[in-house]
Order: sequence, then structure tokens, then C-alpha cells
Amino acid sequence: MWKITSHAPVETLELGRILGASAPAGTVFALRGDLGAGKTLFAKGLAMGLEIPDYVSSPTFTIVNEYLEGEIPFYHMDIYRVNHEEELLEIGVEEYFQEGGIVAVEWPDILGGILPKEHININFAKEYDEEGNEWREITIDAAIDDSSWLEEVLYTYAHTIH
Ligand SMILES: Nc1ncnc2c1ncn2[C@@H]1O[C@H](COP(=O)(O)OP(=O)(O)O)[C@@H](O)[C@H]1O
Ligand SMILES: [Mg+2]
Repeated sequence: MWKITSHAPVETLELGRILGASAPAGTVFALRGDLGAGKTLFAKGLAMGLEIPDYVSSPTFTIVNEYLEGEIPFYHMDIYRVNHEEELLEIGVEEYFQEGGIVAVEWPDILGGILPKEHININFAKEYDEEGNEWREITIDAAIDDSSWLEEVLYTYAHTIH
């Protein structure tokens, strides 16, 4: 498990960017944290790392945004507003995990058994320092077979930004 401090939005974006640039095809990122914690910003960073030219932040009424312009397809899901599992089945959400792309899911617990066993958990927690400035504690915990690329990326991140 890794704990990372993000002092500003650009740092969360950069973390997403370097992970997106190195993640092997098929990697699933399960993003957790309260509203406004930084999940969507991180996903935007992933899209940057995947060199997706026309990334637009997901409108909240869209459950899955597909980006097929990069070298690897990128699917960004925000399932906060899904109330019934049938809605997920109607969209065919499970198919996005079989396309060999990179998937980032906000509110992954709603997926239940649809979330693949191999995934990377990333939790975003809002924190405040003594002066009232907000920062984020980002916790990364990988349920993947080969996490050597992840270790390498996080080592580099820790030694460049912090
Ligand atoms: N260190 C930080 N990392 C990420 N976001 C931050 C940070 N500090 C402040 N913010 C702000 O928090 C908000 C995060 O929004 P967003 O990524 O949409 O959250 P979520 O998708 O988790 O609801 C943005 O307005 C961003 O500018
Ligand atoms: Mg969001």
C-alpha cells in the first residue's frame, strides 16, 4: 500500500498522468472518495497520460465516457447515479472490462461482482492543515498480479514531485 500526499490539483493530475502513461492495457482503476475528493481530476490525468486529445470532463448524467482516440481505449465510468443493477446491465457495463482498455471507475462498489478481481484501488481523502489549507491523502492499493510497473512509477513520482 502506498500513501501519497497531493498538495494541489496539479499534483493529482500529474499522478494520474504518469500512471496512465505506464499502465498496461486492461488495467482497472477503482476510484473511491467523497464528492470533490479528486477522482475525476485523477481520471483526467489518466487520459492525459494515455494521450487522449479531446478529453472532456464527464457530464454527471453520462455513466460511461469512451475515448478511443489514444493508443489504448480509455473508459471513464461514474456510476454515482446508478440506482439499480439493471441499469448497469442495460448499458452492458461488464463489456467495458473485456475490451483490453484502461478503465477508471468512480463509485466502484456499486459494480459489485462486475468489478474485475484484478484492479488498483485508489482512495482520495480530503484533509486540512493547521492553516485550513486543503490537501489530499491518496492511498493506492493494488490487487494485481504484476505490480512492478506501479512500484516503479510511484517511486519515480515520490522522487520527482516530493
Ligand atoms: N490536491 C488536490 N487534488 C485534487 N483535487 C483538489 C486538490 N485540492 C483541491 N482540489 C479540488 O477538488 C476538486 C476535485 O473535484 P473532482 O475531481 O471533480 O472530485 P470527485 O470526482 O472526487 O467528485 C476540484 O475542484 C479540485 O480543484
Ligand atoms: Mg467525479
